[in-house]
Amino acid sequence: MIYARIAGTGSYLPEKVVSNKDLEATMDTSDEWIRERTGIRQRHVAAENEFASDMGLQAARQALEMANTDASDIDLIVVGTTTPDKVFPSTACTIQRRLGVHNSPAFDVQAVCSGFVYALDVANRMVITGGATKALVIGTETLSRITDWDDRSTAVLFGDGAGAVVLEASEKPGILSTHTHADGEFEDLLEVPLGEQYIRMNGNAVFRKAVATLGSIARETLATNGVEKADLDWLVPHQANLRIISAAARKLDLPMEQVVVTVDKHANTSAASIPLALDIAVRDGRIQRGQLLLLEAFGGGFTWGSALVRF
Ligand code: ACO
Repeated sequence: MIYARIAGTGSYLPEKVVSNKDLEATMDTSDEWIRERTGIRQRHVAAENEFASDMGLQAARQALEMANTDASDIDLIVVGTTTPDKVFPSTACTIQRRLGVHNSPAFDVQAVCSGFVYALDVANRMVITGGATKALVIGTETLSRITDWDDRSTAVLFGDGAGAVVLEASEKPGILSTHTHADGEFEDLLEVPLGEQYIRMNGNAVFRKAVATLGSIARETLATNGVEKADLDWLVPHQANLRIISAAARKLDLPMEQVVVTVDKHANTSAASIPLALDIAVRDGRIQRGQLLLLEAFGGGFTWGSALVRF
């Protein structure tokens, strides 16, 4: 049996940091309100000339280095992004060119905050069926460009960044399973309508649905693999709101010490949040080889998904 194994991880955050205090100066909000309702303390914001491909490229280079892999060996690039550089070509093609890779398939996946899990699902399926042997899976977002910085109900929530993994075909596990779902019924609860520039969101409704759905996807993932909650070493969730993350952890009976939390420093970076969190916990030594990780995400669409990974 062939698995797709995570051979390396990488991430990138723009240099500019905007704290809650900075936002207090420009809108009717407070550091206390933002921390209590969301757990967010600060977010990174891309420079004027910095785009999804720039950040994704940096994250990809780090992941390739950790995986000890030459870019020329990559035979698949999948990018999860809601904020591509251009309408077309895809951000994946731009990153492919800048890595000097030729001929591999390269495409973007648009599943908003679930984008990385969707991208991982597609790449995993290609690797285990022999369609690719070394894949780059990237989540990269410049949400600051679709955030209305005069709207306090959304501006405090989002940030920019990128994360990446290198998958390689291996006889050792490996991604054990991936799960993806969507329900377009809820599309107008979280959207950027065509012709408009900014995110519109019904925060309360998104919150309730996210908590319920993350519980059900976790149950589905564990049941598929015959794994108990207690077998999990780490939950690496999408980073939207600390209250959503804590509720997901409670449902898994996991103490917060086994949950990777970056929302305080990065805010919600949509498709970038899971690979960013993963890379940070790998590089600081919390996540170790051989451990069992549950990745789970929920986002606009609604879309949701998960992956169970033997790291
Ligand atoms: N600063 C101060 N006050 C604020 C702010 C702000 N930034 N934003 C809203 N308020 C006010 C509201 O106007 C309201 O005032 P009122 O009672 O006088 O009307 C009050 O605070 C409470 O507002 P609620 O919207 O009820 O606050 P809630 O506790 O639901 O928190 C939040 C709002 C943080 C948006 C929450 O609903 C949430 O996180 N939802 C999930 C949304 C999300 O994460 N979306 C991201 C994309 S999807 C995903 O990634 C999962």
